[in-house]
Amino acid sequence: MIIIKIFIDSSKLSEISQAYDYGLLDGVTTNPSLIRAAVDEEKLKGGSIDIEDYIKKILLLARGLPVSLEVIGTDSEKMIDEGRRIYKLFNPIAENVYVKIPVNPSIVEKSSKNFDGLKAIKTLSGEGIPINCTLIFTPEQALMAAKAGASFVSPFAGRIDDLIRSKNNLEFKKTDYFPAYGEEKDGDILEDNGIISGIDLVAQIREIFDNYGISETKVLAASIRNARQTREAALAGADIATLPMNVIEELLIHTKTIEGMKGFIRDIIPEYRDLLNREQ
Ligand code: E4P
Repeated sequence: MIIIKIFIDSSKLSEISQAYDYGLLDGVTTNPSLIRAAVDEEKLKGGSIDIEDYIKKILLLARGLPVSLEVIGTDSEKMIDEGRRIYKLFNPIAENVYVKIPVNPSIVEKSSKNFDGLKAIKTLSGEGIPINCTLIFTPEQALMAAKAGASFVSPFAGRIDDLIRSKNNLEFKKTDYFPAYGEEKDGDILEDNGIISGIDLVAQIREIFDNYGISETKVLAASIRNARQTREAALAGADIATLPMNVIEELLIHTKTIEGMKGFIRDIIPEYRDLLNREQ
């Protein structure tokens, strides 16, 4: 059965272990900000961290499941070197490392480095290192990453929604739902470069990949902010959704489920309880 895979978007050992325990975990995505959050939390508890050892613990916890570890360089040579280093140091631990490379590492628009992410992806994937291409905000970025040989492309759905809302001076909280079919203001559908929502970005990437029969590159919906957006990522045909712990925990909550449970528990007749508790 092919069904959407659920990754956890976290570097916290406690969260990864909890999600694993829930029995639904298919992978882990980390990034430098998530590693910082995990390390800061450990330090607050009074612990000191050996980062190499800490990452090895993540890989062992997620044994058998892909774990993305991101490079920090901003040019192709550096990213290629770091990608090889990450893979050599960490992949032998549990054989589950994916190197995460930004689609474009430049921090200015006009730069000779705009294609350095693709160069790194091409070189590293050519050496057999699986790549998760990150920071994708347009379908064409995803298409280029797939052409370069990425195993996963990560469109950041929530951050597109943030961008559309902030460009249009709409107030929002990070976890607020943003409709897949877009938001209207003064009679116009709001958009960014022809994309009307983060989920629309995922859907457009899916459509383009399907047009060309691209199946070796999986669409990994990232920056997912709530359970309903997870549903919409699945409706849009994402292969994978990476979810922070608060969204994973939200997936099964519904008032009527709770109310229904209370009613069923209240109505149990003693004979039925005895039958199910009888010694076998
Ligand atoms: C994906 O790999 C990223 O780590 C992540 O989904 C970013 O999410 P955010 O926009 O909530 O920070």
